[in-house]
Amino acid sequence: MHRIAVIPGDGTGPEVIREGLKVLEAAAARTGFRYQTETYDLGGERYLRSGEVLPDSVLEELRGFDVIYLGAVGHPEVTPGILEKGLLLRLRFELDQYINLRPVKLYPGVDCPLKDKGPEEIDFMVIRENTEGLYSGMGGFQYKGTPQEVSTQVHMTTRFGAERAIRYAFELTRKRDRKRQLHLVAKTNVLTYVHDTWWRAFNEVGEADYPDISREYAHVDAACMWFVKNPEWFDVIVVENMFGDIITDLGAMIQGGMGVAAGGNINPEGVSMFEPIGGSAPKYTGQGVVCPLAAIGAAQMMLEQLGEAEAAERVEGAVVRALESGKIKSLSAGRMGLSTSEVGDLVAGLV
Ligand code: IPM
Ligand code: MN
Repeated sequence: MHRIAVIPGDGTGPEVIREGLKVLEAAAARTGFRYQTETYDLGGERYLRSGEVLPDSVLEELRGFDVIYLGAVGHPEVTPGILEKGLLLRLRFELDQYINLRPVKLYPGVDCPLKDKGPEEIDFMVIRENTEGLYSGMGGFQYKGTPQEVSTQVHMTTRFGAERAIRYAFELTRKRDRKRQLHLVAKTNVLTYVHDTWWRAFNEVGEADYPDISREYAHVDAACMWFVKNPEWFDVIVVENMFGDIITDLGAMIQGGMGVAAGGNINPEGVSMFEPIGGSAPKYTGQGVVCPLAAIGAAQMMLEQLGEAEAAERVEGAVVRALESGKIKSLSAGRMGLSTSEVGDLVAGLV
């Protein structure tokens, strides 16, 4: 019996999570796995009502689940940072979800903004380190509010943190067995301390334990260029936290947009959390017009993590068939030609 904590969260989060759960139920009916869910009303509304973001007691409860299924975090009436840091980042850090796994895969039938690129050319995985770098929260102000104001935000990097992400990436590259090629994306020509740690860890680990995987390197700015010009060059990418945040939004666009981009915050030895990577989209909230395929893709990744490979495969197959059916006109909010729940029904019916 899998135990799933559900945090629908803010904005359109609840609308898309509902469809993901619908598809999960269909997959369970098909393949016979059993699960139970418990829903937590964390997010902007609760914060505005009670001042609570993530009570310690709730965090402790969440540690007891097998996985967490998260909608979106971010509320227009809450100062930026409060929910992001207090809920999303706190969960990532406290649960030590040190891998942020983001597939960039263009499915057949999805509009791609790149000329002459199709599903053959766009199929790679980004492993974003998820607990360090500029996200560490280290830093602060001195003389705040004066003309002498100083602020720092420390790019905290540990050999341990870089190495565990790098090892995960090498393992995944081997398991994928596609091009057997791993790219490190960084900025070794400017961040000559923190990215030197990454560079040495990448080469030492690769040379010692993964001689069968070819090691490639791209500066982050060049990687942005290649994502657009030659996405087919990539198989697996490993990247530090902040650069990973940025390049995966670009990755989401070339795979068809936020409507289809999913990700997993993974602790291979602990509690992992799966989410559509787009935000809470306040302007579309409650209209039933946002695409739930990203949330459904997150549910698929969650099934993989739970060891339900067959169910995960069925969900992906259903998404592909739904897209091939031509019934979904676009993955952009408001242009699908179907409502959020109609897309959920369509996919659930094909599982
Ligand atoms: C993401 C988001 C978060 C991040 C924000 C909401 C803190 O952009 O998951 O990519 O920066 O990691
Ligand atoms: Mn982001």
